[in-house]
Amino acid sequence: MTKKSILITGGAGFIGSHVVRLFVQKYPEYHIFNLDKLTYAGNLKNLTDIEQAPNYTFIKADLVDAVAIESLFQKHQFDGVIHLAAESHVDRSISNPMDFVMTNVVGTVNLLNAAKNAWKADFNNKLFYHVSTDEVYGSLHDGGFFLETTPYDPQSPYSASKASSDHFVRAYHNTYKIPVVISNCSNNYGPNQFPEKLIPLFINNIRNNKPLPVYGKGENVRDWLYVVDHARAIDMVYHKGKNGETYNIGGFNEWTNIDLIKVVCKTMDVKLGRTPGTSEQLITYVTDRAGHDLRYAIDAHKIMRELGWEPSLQFEEGIEKTIDWYLTNQQWMDEVTSGDYANYYDNLYGNR
Ligand code: NAD
Ligand code: DAU
Repeated sequence: MTKKSILITGGAGFIGSHVVRLFVQKYPEYHIFNLDKLTYAGNLKNLTDIEQAPNYTFIKADLVDAVAIESLFQKHQFDGVIHLAAESHVDRSISNPMDFVMTNVVGTVNLLNAAKNAWKADFNNKLFYHVSTDEVYGSLHDGGFFLETTPYDPQSPYSASKASSDHFVRAYHNTYKIPVVISNCSNNYGPNQFPEKLIPLFINNIRNNKPLPVYGKGENVRDWLYVVDHARAIDMVYHKGKNGETYNIGGFNEWTNIDLIKVVCKTMDVKLGRTPGTSEQLITYVTDRAGHDLRYAIDAHKIMRELGWEPSLQFEEGIEKTIDWYLTNQQWMDEVTSGDYANYYDNLYGNR
């Protein structure tokens, strides 16, 4: 029997590595190809436990290189694509938007073209799954939740690039009939997240007794989901999602940044054996992010109702597991925060 081949892009990154692990372990009958450029955010050490698996192959490639992507589709008969590779950090999109246009927009269109060309004779049993974000819906100011039908209203260069890629995926479905699904998820947290993002950044700063830079007044609201629950949702959408549909993914777990940071501080005090209140003293209010979206909140009823997905972890359990992971994997943290990271940190926070 021929194995099903699935191309996962961005599999060396935070969410991608959890998706690759889940698919490699759960589906020995599939062959999983992980395509990643290995930018600063891509780290093969996220996958050391499965790198020798017989149903896993890593491919180093840049999605912006159309010729390379096209030839990969000619060389391997991919049955499906799960597209996670992206530039993913909002602050970086503010200082360097063109990187986001290239990878998130041009890279996605290159991947769509390659899939279309390889599959056009027969789209049967093929699927292009595009993994996107709730940020495409903009910022909630007057209550309510993001539904799959909420009009797009991206506010940052990052979310504009993701919205653009979503539009291209739908346009290719409509125009060329390529089978697609899209999911839009809320903020993820958990092991292996690059420490430019709020939770791992603050865990690392607390460990090193460094200031915790809270943007503005810390009143912005995010809706947090444990990364393994996102990976489980991606598995369900890939296997059970309906062609052409969109699924919102989120944990109904809203926190203001400052309340979330206080939970991280309290848990870190316990884990590090510090006097209660020690970590909170590191909180430092800094200049707000430009155009900072006030609130994101996902209505995830569609995926729960139609595909039977639900989050498996309560936030209290998830955050404790997350902190434990970073504290027991300090070498991982020290390696990714060496080199270029120091320059990034000084450039972003030095003038705040
Ligand atoms: P990440 O930044 O941790 O990882 C991105 C990966 O993509 C890295 O391994 C990187 O090397 C790779 N990559 C970047 N540019 C590439 C290119 N040109 N060619 C090939 N590979 C390239 O990102 P993440 O947080 O894991 O997010 C993964 C996806 O999920 C993204 O599409 C993001 O928009 C989406 N998403 C993220 C979140 C979140 O909270 N992190 C929430 C919802 C959706
Ligand atoms: O909503 C999904 C999105 O969540 C994903 O699409 C993005 O890829 C992912 O990066 C994330 O975007 P955010 O901008 O919400 O995540 P970030 O961790 O950068 O910030 C979370 C909140 O914390 C946000 O309101 C900004 C604030 N913040 C962030 C940092 C890095 C701070 O106050 N201080 C900081 O130093």
